[in-house]
Amino acid sequence: MFNKETYIRRRQILMQKVQKGLILLLGNEESPMNYRDNTYHYRQDSSFLYFFGIDAPGKAGLLDPESGEAILFGDDVDIEDIIWMGPQDSMTDIGARSGVGKTFPFAKLYDQVSLANQQGRKVHFLPPYRAENKLLLQRLTGIETGRQKEYASVELIKAIVSLRSVKEPVEIEEIEKACATGYAMHLCAMEMAQPGMREQEIAGRMEGIAISGGGSVSFPIILSQKGDILHNHSHSMMLEKGRLLVVDAGAESLEHYASDFTRTIPVGGEFTPQQRDIYDIVLAANNTATQLIRPGVTYLSVHLDVARVIARGLKDLGLMKGDVEEAVAAGAHALFFPHGLGHMMGLDVHDMEDIGQIYVGYDEEVIPVNQFGTAYLRLGRRLEPGFVITNEPGIYFISALIDQWKSGKMHEQYICYEKLDKYRGFGGIRIEDDILVTKEGARILGQRVPATAEEISKSVRGA
Ligand code: GLY
Ligand code: MN
Repeated sequence: MFNKETYIRRRQILMQKVQKGLILLLGNEESPMNYRDNTYHYRQDSSFLYFFGIDAPGKAGLLDPESGEAILFGDDVDIEDIIWMGPQDSMTDIGARSGVGKTFPFAKLYDQVSLANQQGRKVHFLPPYRAENKLLLQRLTGIETGRQKEYASVELIKAIVSLRSVKEPVEIEEIEKACATGYAMHLCAMEMAQPGMREQEIAGRMEGIAISGGGSVSFPIILSQKGDILHNHSHSMMLEKGRLLVVDAGAESLEHYASDFTRTIPVGGEFTPQQRDIYDIVLAANNTATQLIRPGVTYLSVHLDVARVIARGLKDLGLMKGDVEEAVAAGAHALFFPHGLGHMMGLDVHDMEDIGQIYVGYDEEVIPVNQFGTAYLRLGRRLEPGFVITNEPGIYFISALIDQWKSGKMHEQYICYEKLDKYRGFGGIRIEDDILVTKEGARILGQRVPATAEEISKSVRGA
């Protein structure tokens, strides 16, 4: 964890922003896989980590902006816990490391919240996403699980988004550590991308690298020759020469900061001319975004500029036609690029998505666009120095979508449907880097994973 001053300062700023009522921050519990003591890999709640740094289950925090006090709730272990888990720090020691002087047994949380309720004080809480915390919140507040999202504190959400969106130098350092592990994972995938190898062998080695780095993967690895399925978590296929392998994967640092890279690798190392043409359009789209990212621009405008690069490239190849500006305004590019350019990244790979994407990615000025494709853009608002974002354009040939659009005569004036049959079975291409918005512009975080077609071919050939 970082030094205690970091957490004290973050909590103070949060209390200054919220001012009234009590702020309740719940940590995560262990989550059983098939019986109580056989649990999934433990992952603390990211907002709890951000404000307390304590990476262990059974904890909750209460902040009182009116008195400036912070209380940590949790139980000291007993002899049975010590037998199975070894000696554990006392709650007093855990609190001290986080800069919290007052610690109470967990059961006292009920008393404190019910006292606030009796006094008519608002209890601010975040929308819970885990069943255990939904039930706990129901017991604490009386609000049934299905309605907790609507009662979550928008004031608290906005305050936390404003803090967590702008990364501190220590956070950037952590993200760069996650990027170094992510780099090694992707290099491993390139070296292993040979015909006859199974996807799962590569995914397994990559996950091993993430774990060996001291953390874990930042999300389940996406690794598939069926790259036209955007989030394909199946790894069962054998690699075949001539196919493209989409690898979208990242690691978490010890402090749980994420990396998230995507590369598309030709199995065996050589792109076919058809693959190379599409690859170079996606790479141009990715490079264009990096050049455009700077404080003050909206990510929505960068997304649309990238969509124009893609549409222009596809027009040059004869797959699209007509006026590029008009085609993108109509949403025709989304047949090939049906997702957003990127998202915020930090303690979560999709940072703060649990507390409300609308508050993370949009504001009063930039609101979500209700058009297929662009509607999936998770981040549209103006960029600020300190934001860490992903840049992940892609082109895909999704048979079911092509069939649907073609039979509905969708955007016929912009799409050359008759040319698309040659691309069935092509899969998809996505190229993703992690970017820090700086005062002057943008910086790719970590050493850039091989990105040009030549660099990738070289890595696959081990040259
Ligand atoms: N890397 C997975 C995603 O961004 O959705
Ligand atoms: Mn991503």
